[in-house]
Amino acid sequence: MGSPAPPRHLFVVFGATGDLFQRKLLPTMFRLSAQGKFPPGCLLLGVARHPLDDAGFRALALASLRAAKAGTDEELQRFCDSTLLYHRLSEESAAGYGVLRSHIEQIEASHLLDGNRLFYLALPLDAFTPTLTGIGQAGLNKAPGWTRVVIEKPFGRDLASAQALNRLLRGMFEESQIYRIDHYLGKETVQNLLVFRFANMFVESMWTRDRIEHVEITVAEKLGLEGRAQYYDDSGALRDMVQNHVTQLLTLVGMEPPATKDEDAIRNEKVKVLRSIVRIDPSDVVRGQYTAGTVDGAAVLGYRQEPGIPPTSTTETFVALRLKIANWRWQNVPFFVRTGKRLPAKASRVVLTLRAPPVSFFQAEGEYEASPDRITILVQPDEGFEIAFEVKVPGREIRVQTQRMKFHYADVFGELPDGYETLLIDVMLGDPTLFVRADEVEESWRLYAPLLENPPPVVFYAANTWGPEEAQTLVEQWGHRWNPP
Ligand code: BG6
Repeated sequence: MGSPAPPRHLFVVFGATGDLFQRKLLPTMFRLSAQGKFPPGCLLLGVARHPLDDAGFRALALASLRAAKAGTDEELQRFCDSTLLYHRLSEESAAGYGVLRSHIEQIEASHLLDGNRLFYLALPLDAFTPTLTGIGQAGLNKAPGWTRVVIEKPFGRDLASAQALNRLLRGMFEESQIYRIDHYLGKETVQNLLVFRFANMFVESMWTRDRIEHVEITVAEKLGLEGRAQYYDDSGALRDMVQNHVTQLLTLVGMEPPATKDEDAIRNEKVKVLRSIVRIDPSDVVRGQYTAGTVDGAAVLGYRQEPGIPPTSTTETFVALRLKIANWRWQNVPFFVRTGKRLPAKASRVVLTLRAPPVSFFQAEGEYEASPDRITILVQPDEGFEIAFEVKVPGREIRVQTQRMKFHYADVFGELPDGYETLLIDVMLGDPTLFVRADEVEESWRLYAPLLENPPPVVFYAANTWGPEEAQTLVEQWGHRWNPP
C-alpha cells in the first residue's frame, strides 16, 4: 500500500542555491513529484541571497537536475516551470523576513494554498540561528495552516550550541513541528533494524549479553573531502559521522523493544540507550587522519595536503571507539565503533559476534578451530543481512567450515528508495518517527563532549588502509578483531 499524498503546502527552502539543495534535495523533490508524492498544487519556494528571479532560479535548477540525470529534458523543464519559485532574501533583518512573509502570503493567495508551510533549512550551521530568528520575527512560525521546520545536520557543534539551538526552536515551535534530519534514519536497512529485531524471535532471543560477545559498527567511506574542506576541517569525523549517523545505528541496535511503534515510544528507548552509555575513557578512543596513498591505482593526497586544509590540521578523518552500555542487556558486551574517510571500501555494517559454545569438542581435539557465529546487518551497499554459521564439510572426517545465510534486498525488492525521499515524505505527512528528538540530540552531544573538549592526539593512516594501527590494537587488546568487510 502506498503512502497517502501529502496535503497542499508551500515547501520553502532556505539555502536554495547551495550545494545540498541543488545536488541532493532538488533531484529528490523531482523524483517525488514524478511519483505524485509531491502532488500538483504544492509549490517549492527557494530562498537565498543570490540576485535571481523565478526564471533565473529555474534555469539554475534545470542545470542541476540535468547534471543529476534526474529525468528527460521535457520532464525536468515541466517540473521547474510548474513547481519552482524564488525569493531573494535581500537582507538578514526583521524587515528582510517581513518582505519574505508578504511574498509567501501573496503566493498562497494566488495559488489558493491552504496556508500549510514547511521550512527547510538547507544551510550551514552558523546560518541556523539568524534564519530561525528572522522566521520568528516575521511571525512566519504561525501559519494559517500547519507549519513544520526541518533542520539539516549538524545540529550544533557541541552540547552547549545544540542546547541553544533547541531553546531557540522551542521558543517558536512545538517539538512535534521540529524535524531534525539524520539521513541514516531514512535508509531502509536502518529502519529494518527494528523489524529484524522485534519481528523475529530467533533474532531477538540472541540479542543479549548471554549470547553476544561483542558488537561492531563500521561506517567506512572510500571518498575523501569532496570539496568540503572548510566544513570538514571544522567538524572532523566525530562531529560529521559519529555524533549522528553512527550513534543512530548504535541506539537502534542497543534499544529495548518499544511499547508501541509510536514515534515517542521508539525515541524514548533510543534515549535510554544513550543514557546508559558509560562515560568514554580516552584510552578507548582512536582519532586518525589519512596521509597520501593510492586509491584505484591513482595517487591521492594526504588530508593535510588537500586544498583548503591547513598543513598542521589535527582534525580527525577516522574515529574508533570502545563503548560500554551499562544496562541489563549489554553489561560487559563491548561495542566497537569505527568510521573514516579514504578507507578501502564504502561499507556500513553492524556485526554481532556470538559467544563461542561453552565447550567445543572440535576445538578440544585440537584439529579444527570453529569461528564464532556472526549476524551482520549490511546497511550499505548490498543492503540486507547475513548470518555466518558453521557446517560440517561432507566426508568421513569432521571438518568444519563457515557458511552464510544471506538476504539481500535487491534480490527481492529491487532498488531501494533514497533515504531523503523517505524523510521528505514523512515531513510532508507530519510523521516525526524518523527524526531526532531534542533530548536525543543533546544526550548524544553529552556523550561525546569529553572527547570534543580534550581530544586525544591524532595518529596517522595511509589512504586506502583500514585506519591507524591503534584502531587494530583497540580491539585486539580485548581479544577481538574487526570483521573483514
Ligand atoms: C554526511 C556526511 O552526513 O554523510 C558526509 O557529512 C558523509 O561526510 C555522508 O560522506 C555519508 O552518507 P552516506 O549515505 O553516503 O553513507
